[in-house]
Amino acid sequence: MHNSAADVQSNQPMKVFVTGSTGAIGRYLVPALVRSGHAVTALVRTAEKAEAVRTQGATPTTAALFDKDELTATLAGHDAVVNMASALPSTRQFMSDRAWRRNEHVRIDGSTTLVDAALAAGVGIFIQESVAMIYPDMGADWITEDVPADRYPRAVCSLVAEDNAHRITAAGGTGIVLRFGVFCGTGAAHSEEMLSAARHHITPVLGDADGYISTIHLADAAAAVVAALTAAAGTYNIVDDEPLTKRDYATALAAAVGKRSWLRVPGRAALLGGHRLTSLTRSLRVSNNRFRTTTDWTPRHPSAREAWRTTASS
Ligand SMILES: NC(=O)c1ccc[n+]([C@@H]2O[C@H](COP(=O)([O-])OP(=O)(O)OC[C@H]3O[C@@H](n4cnc5c(N)ncnc54)[C@H](OP(=O)(O)O)[C@@H]3O)[C@@H](O)[C@H]2O)c1
Repeated sequence: MHNSAADVQSNQPMKVFVTGSTGAIGRYLVPALVRSGHAVTALVRTAEKAEAVRTQGATPTTAALFDKDELTATLAGHDAVVNMASALPSTRQFMSDRAWRRNEHVRIDGSTTLVDAALAAGVGIFIQESVAMIYPDMGADWITEDVPADRYPRAVCSLVAEDNAHRITAAGGTGIVLRFGVFCGTGAAHSEEMLSAARHHITPVLGDADGYISTIHLADAAAAVVAALTAAAGTYNIVDDEPLTKRDYATALAAAVGKRSWLRVPGRAALLGGHRLTSLTRSLRVSNNRFRTTTDWTPRHPSAREAWRTTASS
């Protein structure tokens, strides 16, 4: 096996293979890795996207996410794999079981194949994207990584992907799981939809307005992935410092676009969505303390207030 995180100096350039390089987080991640001196191989699916990552300083590859032999050959010589591939449904398709099945295929079969290939190629570090929305509703209590995940139907695919990353640790390498909060930033489709609605005085509150939402700006999420390359194996929450109540989150969004919020929707009516919306309706006050004390990462946007301000002005 090549370098594990413990073997690698924090400033030592690595050869990093990235999936999801063209997604919401990937578009911030590839330039962040390149700026930090790492050599990046980016998995892409079209010639147009190959050109886009090349412009960012990465080397594109069109290896298929579900082809173990092709991936094993492509991964040879890499120090780390960062799996950010996902097919999370758009806001309009969020309730669709069919759309979620595509996500499950990418998360479950994709992560299984990629870990199999990483093990076969001897890659020592594997970072897997997961979500902070897999915790149970804890009201106003802080949630650390020690709180057991809730295996509700939509969460299972992320938990399988997490288990795959831990297989790298079991084999003597460094498997790292990053549980991201709700993304905020240009390039996250739902952020752009929310900004547009807020300009028409409509802001989202899903569930109880006193419940908490844990968020992360995409640039801070990307910086966390770079910092994670030298972290110890384990699971880390990647959220900002100050989760807001859903009421304050809506107020911050409206303030960022300079409008008053006249309508907060859908409120408690979202609870009717049952398990299909549970990731967004529950109260999640998630702590980033473990990652902040393990690495030198600090979110540049301490809360959604700053994240919305940056996003609205960009
Ligand atoms: N909680 C939340 O934050 C939340 C809530 C609702 C919605 N969302 C939405 O979910 C997205 C989350 O960002 P994200 O970066 O995780 O996802 P994303 O922007 O949808 O990007 C997914 C990445 O995975 C790649 N990918 C998908 N299927 C693949 C496959 N079969 N083989 C190889 N690569 C594949 C995509 O490649 P291609 O570019 O080739 O497609 C893309 O690079 C945001 O756009 C956001 O609006 C998020």
